[in-house]
Amino acid sequence: MGAQPYNFAFFPWTIMSDQLAKKTEAWSGRFSEPVSELVKRYTASVGFDQRLALADIEGSLAHAAMLHAVGILPEADLLAIRSGMARIRAEIESGTFQWSIDLEDVHLNIERRLTEMAGDAGKRLHTARSRNDQVATDIRLWLRGTIDDIRSLLRSLQTALIDLAARHSDTLMPGFTHLQVAQPVSFGHHLMAYVEMFARDEARMIDCRKRVNRLPLGAAALAGTSYPIDREQVARALGFEGLCENSLDAVSDRDFAIEFCSAASLLMMHISRLSEELVIWMSPRVGFIDLADRFCTGSSIMPQKKNPDVPELARGKTGRVYGSLMSLLTLMKGQPLAYNKDNQEDKEPIFDTADTVIETLRIFSDMVGGIQVKEARMREAASEGFSTATDLADYLVRKGLPFRDAHEAVALAVRAAADRGCDLADLGVEALKGFSPLVGDDVLQVLTLEGSVNSRKHRGGTAPEQVRQAIERARQRLAQA
Ligand code: ARG
Repeated sequence: MGAQPYNFAFFPWTIMSDQLAKKTEAWSGRFSEPVSELVKRYTASVGFDQRLALADIEGSLAHAAMLHAVGILPEADLLAIRSGMARIRAEIESGTFQWSIDLEDVHLNIERRLTEMAGDAGKRLHTARSRNDQVATDIRLWLRGTIDDIRSLLRSLQTALIDLAARHSDTLMPGFTHLQVAQPVSFGHHLMAYVEMFARDEARMIDCRKRVNRLPLGAAALAGTSYPIDREQVARALGFEGLCENSLDAVSDRDFAIEFCSAASLLMMHISRLSEELVIWMSPRVGFIDLADRFCTGSSIMPQKKNPDVPELARGKTGRVYGSLMSLLTLMKGQPLAYNKDNQEDKEPIFDTADTVIETLRIFSDMVGGIQVKEARMREAASEGFSTATDLADYLVRKGLPFRDAHEAVALAVRAAADRGCDLADLGVEALKGFSPLVGDDVLQVLTLEGSVNSRKHRGGTAPEQVRQAIERARQRLAQA
């Protein structure tokens, strides 16, 4: 909508009611008794929504500028609002701002302080606006910034994993299925699997951001406003990509927050799987890696212990992020249009999810960089458990045996080796020939770990040359903004 010059005469701002000014609550004009202390504490959100303060100020400044541009707010008021807000921002940043539970939430606290400083200009700020579209705007602004932080942390973690993978494209370890030794793989390849997961998590965050980044302001309480507002101007000023198209939807839905918690849950699921592996790899029974001491703790009773607390805690914290997702889904499922006070409960799950994900990613990027790899132990484990049995079967297939028959012949060879307590190669060429006449003198090559991984040399396979290419592609992707 284009900005229409507005006639200030329609807004006799100076006629302010004294009665209204004396009331504690911004909305208490029609109430005959004050709200009970218990209810005040029950309904107040200022204890947690003060985190939205800077977003609230940013939104208010854009709203005020628009009110002025369309002729609703005189310039003197706009200037008073701007300087008042600058002082409020400084008070909040320095921790001197006095938050009051009597003023319910972040919006009313800031508005009251503004009014103390700017007088009637502060009271005019709420023209053509409601806390319903205000709070929806604040959360979206805050969440947009949080998503950007998470995105850059996800990139740091991917970089740390890629750097480690690059040092270990030739380090061989057992690959597992059912946690049983299956086939040898490159440790770098294993790490790059997580880079793929975190890259998808990043893509999900980017996608979610598009739907977060829409302007609800203008929806007012629910139906829109009778003032000649310019929503596009506010959207541009706040960097929103577009407008929420329906006022009822704008103030009431929180699906963008659910999407965020859902993307965060998937991200934490990946963190949790990696954590589980780090815990297993660090167990002395396995001994594939060591984590730097600063990520571990000892035991107060067992002096020999070095516990991988950080990955264990990350695995545990995954549960609280899933919990937030369930909270928000449940919060929304029974709400009729439009805004209901239920929505105030959206904030803590969003904040807790963001804090958990940000702290976890920060610590993981650092921890992954410091992983000490015990290559000899990995190699030893890869040689145990007949990890190249599939390679022997494939060798027989290449010589013309149907795969099922090859599988059978190798199974018998594995049994014989297990009985003798040795590996397949240790049976010797002559004994191996006994399991199939197709076995030739070249058989030992295919039974080596290097022979096994090098043969899986297609895109996506574990051959070290392929791992190096995958690393190169991932680095290129990360180099693009
Ligand atoms: N603190 C409220 C919230 O977080 C702000 C909106 C209040 N709106 C209302 N109609 N009571 O949702």
